[in-house]
Amino acid sequence: MDLVLMGLPGAGKGTQAEKIVEKYGIPHISTGDMFRAAIKGETPLGKKAKEYIDAGNLVPDEVTIGIVRERLGKDDCKEGFLLDGFPRTVAQAEELENILSEMNRTIDYVININVDRNKLMERLTGRRVCRNCGATYHVVFNPPKEEGVCDKCGGELYQREDDNEKTVGTRLEVNIKQQQPLLDFYEEKGYLQNISGDQDINDVFKDIDRLLGGLTK
Ligand code: AP5
Ligand code: ZN
Repeated sequence: MDLVLMGLPGAGKGTQAEKIVEKYGIPHISTGDMFRAAIKGETPLGKKAKEYIDAGNLVPDEVTIGIVRERLGKDDCKEGFLLDGFPRTVAQAEELENILSEMNRTIDYVININVDRNKLMERLTGRRVCRNCGATYHVVFNPPKEEGVCDKCGGELYQREDDNEKTVGTRLEVNIKQQQPLLDFYEEKGYLQNISGDQDINDVFKDIDRLLGGLTK
């Protein structure tokens, strides 16, 4: 199953991706996670991406497309993949079509998680992430059992550097501008499926699971 997960920053892509990969056994490919790992490892890619991410801007297409092309060529993607946060521009979407057609594959679904924009700032500034396993929490909407500690692995929870109010503001502005042409692109191709993200985390997953055929009612 070849899936793309779309949605504005804070819509719940990472949260739902955790659940989808657990149930469907496909690799989770998050360009944001790949950039953060590269920044932590101080690699050449990390050095290139850091200034854009810190400012809340998009990393240039040629850099982002390059890492996705390489990742999709890996063996674990043969039976499917879940792309989270890519594509984010029409140029990226067009290039993804080329990459997949070279592999004789097409996207099955583009799942767009829709959330009222006014909720996104609160979701992002209250997010906490596990330093060890990457699990995502929220101080109000999805708190861990013990403050600051991951339920799944006991790891330390931290706040992402780009989850401050100023950077979130830029991220929302930049992504809102890119979103509509991308939705139009996928609507035209017939891949687009809209899911309401304005509901409880488990109910959002039920809708996605139903779409993917894992739930029959
Ligand atoms: P990335 O890491 O992808 O960040 P993003 O798109 O801004 O998305 P987020 O990870 O912030 O949000 P999410 O939708 O995953 O929400 P989450 O599930 O965590 O990218 C970071 C940066 O990398 C970009 O700014 C850019 O610079 C660069 N980049 C990445 N991809 C790129 C690309 N393709 N091209 C160019 N540059 C790129 O949920 C958020 C919070 O809400 C959590 O606390 C969660 O617990 C809570 N929550 C989730 N669902 C619900 C719910 N239903 N109800 C209540 N709370 C909820
Ligand atoms: Zn953890």
